[in-house]
Amino acid sequence: MINSNKSKIWYGGDYNPEQWDKAVWDEDLRLFKLAGIDVVTLNVFGWAKNQPDEDTYDFGWLDEVMDKLDADGVGVCLGTSTAAHPAWMARKYPDVLQVDFNGHKRKFGGRHNFCPNSPTYRKYAVRMAEKLSERYKDHPSLLVWHINNEYGGAGTCYCDNCEAAFRQWLKERYGTLEALNHAWNTAFWSHIFYDWEDIVAPNALSEEWNAANGRMGTYFESISLDYMRFYSASILECFKLEAEAIKRYTPNIPVTTNLMGAFKKLDYHQWAKHMDVVSWDNYPGPDAPPSYPAMMHDLMRSLKDGQPFMLMEQTPSQVNYHPANSLKPPGAMRLRSYQAVARGADTVLFFQMRRSVGACEKFHGAVIEHAGHENTRVFRECAELGKELTALGDTLLDARFKAKVAILFDWNNWWAVEMTSGPTFALKYVDEVHKYYAALYRSGIAADMISVEADLSKYDVVIAPVMYMVKQGVADKLEQYTTNGGALITTYFSGIVNENDQVTLGGYPGELRKLLGIWAEEIDALPSGRHNRIILTEGESGGLKPEYECGMLCDLIHTEGAEVKAVYGDNFYRGMPALTVNKVGTGEAWYLATSPESAFLQDWISQVCASRGVIPVVPKAVEGVEATIRSKDGQDYLFVLNHNETPLTVDLGTLTGSNLLTGRPVLDGKIELAEYDVQIIKLT
Ligand code: GLA
Ligand code: ZN
Repeated sequence: MINSNKSKIWYGGDYNPEQWDKAVWDEDLRLFKLAGIDVVTLNVFGWAKNQPDEDTYDFGWLDEVMDKLDADGVGVCLGTSTAAHPAWMARKYPDVLQVDFNGHKRKFGGRHNFCPNSPTYRKYAVRMAEKLSERYKDHPSLLVWHINNEYGGAGTCYCDNCEAAFRQWLKERYGTLEALNHAWNTAFWSHIFYDWEDIVAPNALSEEWNAANGRMGTYFESISLDYMRFYSASILECFKLEAEAIKRYTPNIPVTTNLMGAFKKLDYHQWAKHMDVVSWDNYPGPDAPPSYPAMMHDLMRSLKDGQPFMLMEQTPSQVNYHPANSLKPPGAMRLRSYQAVARGADTVLFFQMRRSVGACEKFHGAVIEHAGHENTRVFRECAELGKELTALGDTLLDARFKAKVAILFDWNNWWAVEMTSGPTFALKYVDEVHKYYAALYRSGIAADMISVEADLSKYDVVIAPVMYMVKQGVADKLEQYTTNGGALITTYFSGIVNENDQVTLGGYPGELRKLLGIWAEEIDALPSGRHNRIILTEGESGGLKPEYECGMLCDLIHTEGAEVKAVYGDNFYRGMPALTVNKVGTGEAWYLATSPESAFLQDWISQVCASRGVIPVVPKAVEGVEATIRSKDGQDYLFVLNHNETPLTVDLGTLTGSNLLTGRPVLDGKIELAEYDVQIIKLT
């Protein structure tokens, strides 16, 4: 449990009373009660108010709000407010300001605007965390610490402090300049470094440019890669420093910071090790299919090995930063809230409680609209959900998500794949991973989204899409997993480089070659719109069609022990293997040499899963219906979500039980779901 002082699914979200006249506060509390809101996130952007100058701290408003909330039984997720520094700090200590990609020193403005290596920023951020924890350590409303906010949200800094810290970080990583020169292959383009001071931050003034298709361009991938590692670690250091200060006063209150799903800049696998509970903000783009936020929930849950996470933010209705900000239609907010719970969230929190009067978020959705009262569609829907979550009590808390399939996801690999020059700019790591995830999702098969450091032994199938970078020890680990009976699926553009983006020589896929029983001689990249075909050697069989389209990348592979399951249909390499499987121990290792149409992935992966005894959560996959199981003390809870705009009936096969909210039993193995409806079935 996140905090046993609040043993139900937490309900509420970001609350900014500091933006409002005191007169509004009591009205807020009245509305919270009506909506069943019992946890608010406070003080996320309160720094300027709390510390008007270098030596003055004034928490009067916060004391008052915390006490009022407590009197009403509302718990607090307390922000440390360090995501936007006060203006006086920027004026007096310009080292808190970032230097941007083009080398320009920024001025005060925006948020997430600090340099993570600024001594001034670190000093005052830690001091603020200390002041707050000392002050509120015994406050009964305090449930969890919310350090900073969406770390990494603004640009990357390239100031002199960052550059000096980068050199220090490199010294620790490589020890000697010889080792660094070797690791980076600096003989290329006359880059040999003679002195640590020769090394500069990679940005538009040195190695990088903003390339087409949203990619980073760099002349030296290994330098850019290390700067990304260093920068993620620099910001993490800020988090750790605040967390340490807090722990001195409140060792038993959990600390978190709100993550952002597949957020490129920060290696969340490193971050999660220092967080007591993972929390994250769910804002899927306007065209994202439901499988996308599902994948993000699974990624966030898997950061701490399946431990339930906090849904820290979502909008009750609309956001404000897309070209057109559509409303969530009636029922959709409830559906998306339960999607999070179905995948391991123990909180349902919103941004924000009340729409602000001015500045860029005034048109961002909120529980309390500008109308200011409870007679709105959004408020009514929020209040209905509030009632349900109260009724659920602690039933679902701490229940674990059940999955026998895992997808490997790796931030360093992501960075490397998308900065490398060639063979194609079309390859987008998260989109590519999502294709595999979506194949499972559409087949109704549950998956975890794990790191290469995770324990693989509990999974029957492990999928490693585009594992371009093979980190030390990973090849051995995958071999052991397969030898012991696991099924491994990996793909084109895997096994190419080591952790420093240096190619593993001797033929692709490098360290994975023996395990896969193949070698790839060349990699062909197809321009968009050009295709090849995958021709199944067995023809139509076991749910697979005789042929499918493929494209983007085509590896030209030779077998070295693997069995050929499909070949290319076109081009000068027609007839060469496109899909192979190698039997290793009691397991098998698959290699898919090209990026296929999604129908192939769904047909093929569900067949591999079925052959390893992995079956869908509910027997018949229905388009737009999502089903998951969370389990606690031997009791399984089935979540069935209808993402369709139309009602439908879902066949549960032999599963039976009763609706957790209504108590109604499942009749004839079937349940009816209205549009955007959700049912939670306590299985028997
Ligand atoms: C983020 C931030 C919030 C708010 C929302 C708006 O998640 O953490 O402060 O800006 O976005 O969607
Ligand atoms: Zn800096």
